Amino acid sequence: MKAAVTTKAGEPGVIQIQDVPQPIVKNGWLLIRIKAFGLNRSEIFTRQGHSPGVTFPRIQGIECVGEVFDDPSGTYQPGQKVAAIMGGMGREFNGGYAEFTLVPLNIVFPFESHLPWEVLGAIPEMFQTVSGSLNEALEIKKGETLLIRGGTSSIGMLTCQMAKNMGLTVIATTRNAGKAEHLTANGADYVLVDDGNIAPELKTILPNGVDKALELIGIATLKDSLQCIRPKGTVCMTGILGGSWTMPEFTPMGDIPSLGRLTVYMGGAENLNKDLLQAFIDDVNKGVININIDRTFYLDEVVAAHTYMESNQSKGKIVVLA
Ligand SMILES: NC(=O)c1ccc[n+]([C@@H]2O[C@H](COP(=O)([O-])OP(=O)(O)OC[C@H]3O[C@@H](n4cnc5c(N)ncnc54)[C@H](OP(=O)(O)O)[C@@H]3O)[C@@H](O)[C@H]2O)c1
Repeated sequence: MKAAVTTKAGEPGVIQIQDVPQPIVKNGWLLIRIKAFGLNRSEIFTRQGHSPGVTFPRIQGIECVGEVFDDPSGTYQPGQKVAAIMGGMGREFNGGYAEFTLVPLNIVFPFESHLPWEVLGAIPEMFQTVSGSLNEALEIKKGETLLIRGGTSSIGMLTCQMAKNMGLTVIATTRNAGKAEHLTANGADYVLVDDGNIAPELKTILPNGVDKALELIGIATLKDSLQCIRPKGTVCMTGILGGSWTMPEFTPMGDIPSLGRLTVYMGGAENLNKDLLQAFIDDVNKGVININIDRTFYLDEVVAAHTYMESNQSKGKIVVLA
């Protein structure tokens, strides 16, 4: 089969298109004929050698959608449409950057849909992340106010649509004033241009602060996001678009306002279920949710797709067709 193999840690060019043996099925695992997969920023870190426990060569890719090719357990039928995410995929074992992948049954989610594969490929990890952040971490409720820090990211754009559908007021940020209309067209009620210190401007809109804040930039803006919440409001850090993992100085009694709450979301397959995924795919089909795809590549073009993702030019999800 054809696969994009990350041969060693490094720049995008370490990924090579190779002919490799098709995986051999084993009990408890199933073979998927991959149709598409979304690219994820964590795959840049893995390629660079920063994901603990990852050895090279490795076929990366933490998610995919496709059709069941062989399931020795008989749980799924050949040709049945499935998604697979996380659980070590593309890190501890070979993942989605290939024509076939062998994955454990517990990370497989069946679905029915006639949507194009490129749309389906954009969904699993993005939906899991947004749904988990909003419902499990932030526990959002109708009528609340939500700040999305990193509003133009794929995760941020979907978060806004799902929060609006649940009856929240959304304030979304971008560093680039030219993208404000893009955020408003996506449903944001207010747009703030992020210079790293938005709390004073946010308080002119909501003097008591927001109920909930989704932090996608990470360490660089986390302290300021904590200044944006109301007493007993919550900040959830889900992303690190700013690039740093560790804060040099953090003073809990000071950086977190009194009664403020700070949590993080690092979801996986255990945070997704097939009914939630199917309901979401149906919403996409009905046009209730618009999946924002920036660009589609083919498997032969994974190096170009990684280079593009790292260039930060995209305004939506990057999808690869296998
Ligand atoms: N916790 C989890 O389970 C989980 C799962 C999936 C993804 N994530 C994380 O979620 C975040 C969003 O992922 P995504 O794929 O949706 O991102 P994306 O679509 O690639 O985001 C692109 C946007 O990020 C902003 N950006 C890029 N570099 C930045 C920087 N240095 N500082 C501030 N903003 C920057 C830019 O917005 P502007 O130019 O408009 O400012 C850009 O339009 C990532 O950190 C990703 O790792 C977490």
